Amino acid sequence: WFPASEAFADWTSPGPGRITDGYLTAPGVFSADGIDPASAALADALPAKLGQSVADFGAGWGYLSARILQRPEIAVLHVVEADHTALSCARANLEDPRAKFYWADVPGWTSPERLDTVVMNPPFHTTRNADPALGQAFIAAAARALKPAGHLWMVANRHLPYETTLAELFGEVSEVGGDGRFKLFHAQRPSRPRR
Ligand SMILES: C[S@@+](CC[C@H](N)C(=O)[O-])C[C@H]1O[C@@H](n2cnc3c(N)ncnc32)[C@H](O)[C@@H]1O
Repeated sequence: WFPASEAFADWTSPGPGRITDGYLTAPGVFSADGIDPASAALADALPAKLGQSVADFGAGWGYLSARILQRPEIAVLHVVEADHTALSCARANLEDPRAKFYWADVPGWTSPERLDTVVMNPPFHTTRNADPALGQAFIAAAARALKPAGHLWMVANRHLPYETTLAELFGEVSEVGGDGRFKLFHAQRPSRPRR
């Protein structure tokens, strides 16, 4: 036997830390080393007005939420995330009383109110292979949570087939930007899918 403190000292997680932009992240959370370029592109594409009640689905450590909260007209932002460590970072990054935090599975989450806008960069890997099912469940959750005149803004890996789900659940869908790696969507006029 040997003292674990010596032999495994370099196995210890360094714990949460600040990235160059000042945000707190932690080892193992999505995009721990810096802002995800796809999320940055989505944040840049968002309109000046998003309405009063907004949600960030799969909010991670809170980058999109921080950009959303720059809008003064927002009354409440529901920050929904399944990874407890990421949500703890989001709490530290979003010191704003308008942010409400939910440690929750998005497809099973019920919004306390009908929303004007949902913004999301949904997860795309549940196995080794890219799996669109979870992202499709996020789209259905957005359609359920939105007001009839609500808006969904999302970014997705270019190779993931979300167009059919979006077309089934929203009256109007447009691709509003992206590059060879990802695509940005704006969808409106949701229908309310069953769970
Ligand atoms: C592609 S990342 C985007 C993170 C963040 N919005 C950003 O732009 O940096 C997707 C996030 O969804 C979270 N997630 C995965 N499955 C989830 C679920 N079932 N419910 C809620 N969040 C989930 C992941 O932990 C991850 O933080």
